[in-house]
Amino acid sequence: MLVILKDDYDAMSKEAALIVVDRLRKKPNMVLGLATGSTPIGLYKELIRMHVDEGLDFSKVTTFNLDEYVGLSPCHDQSYQYFMKQNLFNHINIQAQNIHLPDGMANDIDHFCDWYEEEIRKAGGIDLQILGIGPNGHIAFNEPGSSLGSRTRIKTLTENTRKANARFFKSINEVPKYAITMGVGTIMDAKELVLLANGAGKADAIKAAVEGPLTGQCPASIIQLHRKTFVIADHDASSKLSGSYPGTWRSSFMLER
Ligand code: F6R
Repeated sequence: MLVILKDDYDAMSKEAALIVVDRLRKKPNMVLGLATGSTPIGLYKELIRMHVDEGLDFSKVTTFNLDEYVGLSPCHDQSYQYFMKQNLFNHINIQAQNIHLPDGMANDIDHFCDWYEEEIRKAGGIDLQILGIGPNGHIAFNEPGSSLGSRTRIKTLTENTRKANARFFKSINEVPKYAITMGVGTIMDAKELVLLANGAGKADAIKAAVEGPLTGQCPASIIQLHRKTFVIADHDASSKLSGSYPGTWRSSFMLER
């Protein structure tokens, strides 16, 4: 695991973009795993900027998103499909048929989840998966207590996660109770992981994920077993990491763990 400490959100986002762009240039038809939420927006902005200013080409890229709320249509402004269009897909030259998100309106959710796993497999697996982290250590919608070997499936959102996400809805009552999410095992199959975290609200989760015991109570702690993981955290999100990080100021500091 490589932990990269950056000063702020902007620097965190640009560092993540450097990794994505490097992989994309080496493999133009890469399979990219994507996350929603507030954390990766800066990364997506930087990718859009590089597409517009430098012609960064997404025409051969295939994407798979981590998760989607159950019961929200793709047109709902809080669906993850809508989010991805607004924040990335509408602004780059990705081909619509190469975009994959869980279908929150699927009639047979179990069947859909099997199909999603099979599509990932048929695409050759995910080359690089972008991850955010919940304040409770969740990755995708794998809440504490999730099986560390889990595959794509329907999950019940915890009250904490519903409260955290209520800021995007008119009230907490409107926040869906279920989501379809890639499993922890699905995420771990990606060849590389890039986990992003910013803000003091993520400090405990980052500490638990990077330095804590491996436990389903912090699903993100599984990344300690991944062979190629980058954790990119800003100053506040990394503030509770152990004192073994040298230096008085940690701009661009990297630690191999
Ligand atoms: C979203 C996802 C979630 C978020 C997490 C952090 O696709 O997978 O696990 O990454 O809830 O959300 P933000 O970035 O809004 O703090």
